[in-house]
Amino acid sequence: MPQLLEKIDKNSLPRHIAIIMDGNGRWAKEQGEDRLFGHYHGVESVRNIVEGCAELGVEYLTLYAFSTENWDRPEYEVAGLMELLVSTIRKEVETLNKNKIRLHVIGDMSMLPDFAKKELNEALEITKVNTGLNLVMALSYSGRWELANAAKEIAKEVKEGKLRVEDINQETLQQFLCTAHYPDPELMIRTSGEFRISNFLLYQLAYAELYFTNVRWPDFRKANLYEAIIDFQGRERRFGKTGEQIAETNKAL
Ligand code: IPE
Ligand code: IPE
Ligand code: MG
Repeated sequence: MPQLLEKIDKNSLPRHIAIIMDGNGRWAKEQGEDRLFGHYHGVESVRNIVEGCAELGVEYLTLYAFSTENWDRPEYEVAGLMELLVSTIRKEVETLNKNKIRLHVIGDMSMLPDFAKKELNEALEITKVNTGLNLVMALSYSGRWELANAAKEIAKEVKEGKLRVEDINQETLQQFLCTAHYPDPELMIRTSGEFRISNFLLYQLAYAELYFTNVRWPDFRKANLYEAIIDFQGRERRFGKTGEQIAETNKAL
């Protein structure tokens, strides 16, 4: 692992890494256990990856923990996940503070049970002075929900005369997203061998580098994160330009 860490160029780290933490259920089934067992073990990976990002100096880490579609899972699983969320936050707030990590939440909070909302709000309040890693939890989140919500908010501003239709542009839309204050992720990782976005950050991932691994989330550790970052750093990000143009710009720097 130290060898992997040495291969990372600290000067071109992604500022923002987003992760779809997938594969808990299958990981548990493979060991003849209940799906919730996988979610419990997934928490250990969260701890490890948050620590890894903080150590590296990554500024933003967004973790997809629960989608709006996940509400349709069996009741016992949803209830188990909510309890796990609350107990984890309660246990971890102190460590977050110690490591100067600031917690953020994106998603439709109105869907969360009251006890979860209360615990989350307390943690947001307690960690809001921290200036280290920004840990963004996507909870009851989906990109389509977020975009519909932004459209509604923009329409309200127009109706109230605060915004003119002619002035609406990409910048305006960006300001009404849950992620208005964060840079777009440069690297998006999905674990467990699925090659899809599953309604995650649809707008923000426009130019993100996507990295897929077969490793199930409960097995994902710092070494896997380092591999993803090394892979990211080997890519040429062109943003619609030609490779020659990019080479020219790099030469000028
Ligand atoms: C990801 O693991 C965690 C959540 C979606 C809450 P899954 O629960 O989706 O696990 P698989 O994909 O069924 O293995
Ligand atoms: C995406 O995983 C959501 C989270 C990891 C929280 P899912 O397991 O819900 O996605 P699909 O259903 O396989 O696309
Ligand atoms: Mg899944």
